[in-house]
Amino acid sequence: MDDVRRSRNAYSASADRYLALVGSTLSDQIETAADLELLARFVGIAKAAGGRVLDAGCGTGRVARLLADHGLEAVGVDVAEGMVEIARREHPDLRFAVGELAQLPFASTRFIATVYWYSIITTPPALLATVFAELVRTLGENGIALVAFQSGDGSGIERPNAFGTEVDLTLFRHNVQFVAASLEQSGLHLVDVIEREPEGAHEYTTQAFITARS
Ligand SMILES: C[S@@+](CC[C@H](N)C(=O)[O-])C[C@H]1O[C@@H](n2cnc3c(N)ncnc32)[C@H](O)[C@@H]1O
Repeated sequence: MDDVRRSRNAYSASADRYLALVGSTLSDQIETAADLELLARFVGIAKAAGGRVLDAGCGTGRVARLLADHGLEAVGVDVAEGMVEIARREHPDLRFAVGELAQLPFASTRFIATVYWYSIITTPPALLATVFAELVRTLGENGIALVAFQSGDGSGIERPNAFGTEVDLTLFRHNVQFVAASLEQSGLHLVDVIEREPEGAHEYTTQAFITARS
């Protein structure tokens, strides 16, 4: 089974558990104040630009909810049907699609802003260039992207029976410089690269946040 199919199966099968543990909205139980500030800045830039915003790897639709609550036209996409089903149920006023980061089911230049909130965790480093090429294809001129991820040396951690499912997953702690370079190589300009120490009880590694513009 390839990485994408494994992600789809594991996250679909564990979607109810994700909802119970993480919820369907952002919260200060999961996000730090600094994380929420970064998202608020992203929202401000997207609002000023005007246009549709993509929550890529949306899970239960937590970030899409935040974007929509600030008046943005938010769309979510996720490879796991189980996640999309929950997102649609929890946020019936928003639009969610099933699709892959490396092959987004959207027309070119459709979005003014795209956020990947911890959704590249199962994407191998070698596939990031393909994912970011799709980001660039679907992002309009003067668009903005925010990529949040668990960071480290770029290696994968094996998770047999991930999240209580029967699927074995590899979770990547991407190297910050590597992700930043991949974004630049895809044609984006870096705005800032932030890395912070783990703070929450659910965090075991450094967390990285990269903002870039088209
Ligand atoms: C850790 S969860 C984060 C979900 C959501 N962004 C949040 O913050 O609650 C990772 C999500 O990325 C999705 N995902 C992983 N690989 C993907 C891929 N290749 N294409 C689309 N979605 C993917 C998973 O299905 C899962 O919903």
